[in-house]
Amino acid sequence: MPEVHICEVGPRDGLQNAKHMMPTAAKKAWISALAAAGLKEIEVGSFVPPKLIPAMADTAEVVKHSLNIPGLTVVALAPNLKGYQRAVEAGAHKVTFPVSASRAHSESNVRMTPDQMLAEVRKCAALGGAPIEGAISTAFGCTLQGEVPEKEVVRLAVALAEFCDSVALADTVGYANPAQVRRLFSLVKKEIGDKLEGAHFHDTRGLGLANALAAYEEGVRHFDSSMGGLGGCPFAPGASGNVITEDLVFMFESMGVSTGVDFDALLKARSLLVQAIPEEPVYGHTPLAGLPKGFRAAA
Ligand code: COA
Ligand code: ZN
Repeated sequence: MPEVHICEVGPRDGLQNAKHMMPTAAKKAWISALAAAGLKEIEVGSFVPPKLIPAMADTAEVVKHSLNIPGLTVVALAPNLKGYQRAVEAGAHKVTFPVSASRAHSESNVRMTPDQMLAEVRKCAALGGAPIEGAISTAFGCTLQGEVPEKEVVRLAVALAEFCDSVALADTVGYANPAQVRRLFSLVKKEIGDKLEGAHFHDTRGLGLANALAAYEEGVRHFDSSMGGLGGCPFAPGASGNVITEDLVFMFESMGVSTGVDFDALLKARSLLVQAIPEEPVYGHTPLAGLPKGFRAAA
């Protein structure tokens, strides 16, 4: 069993913000290659109005394909009840809801206040059909509102923990620093214990890996990341890519912490991504530099 679980969010967080559309067939091949590299959980798309984010219009078909991959947990994002119903109907194993701790981002992203969004997620949980992750967006700060009070993050986490299967903290716009990550994860954990599961970091200011390590040291074992560092919320000005999967895998494996991911197979998935949307910039230090001589993956 891997010691840390990585959820690849490139097909959702990555492609929702990409300038170039990835054709459905290429998405399917990419997801299969990601799973073949050992990623056991992939957020394959979102159930949002296709007019709003055309790149996510084919999510039902992508979920259907992904369900045929043995051992893969297929995750989808939903912004409201309609999205949840579509996700359940498609057969998603897990549904993530973005619940912003910043009122300004919440209204920009889902046209609801944080409390209206809480009520929406509560309705979905009551309906049932697929486990729900409440992901607290802009938990570390917001480009629209600026500072986000930690008290508000804790309040939302406590409310979500009542009816969600798990709660995650997300640094949507890459404002977090490692000291803040340790403090906020510890504060929230004190309130909701093991319901606090995931960490979702963006690398906008270059602190993605440092923040992931800080969260690991605070006991977090579930991380979101995106191949090639694609990503960003189209409704949060200044948002850019997620922490880079390739570098996150290298960091953990070189520390002796197993991820279950094979680096060479990961590079094959990366080449499919580059072939499918060649003009989209992709990032990553380890893919460019190569693995160190004599590198051994964690056992
Ligand atoms: N999937 C598909 N269609 C949906 C939908 C969903 N999840 N939710 C609403 N719609 C449709 C409605 O049926 C309605 O259609 P109509 O015009 O044909 O009647 C239309 O979209 C507007 O519905 P409404 O409920 O008024 O939504 P809205 O315009 O207030 O938008 C959200 C609210 C939540 C749907 C929208 O803000 C959203 O999708 N946000 C998520 C953005 C995102 O993905 N951000 C990045 C990830 S964090
Ligand atoms: Zn994100």
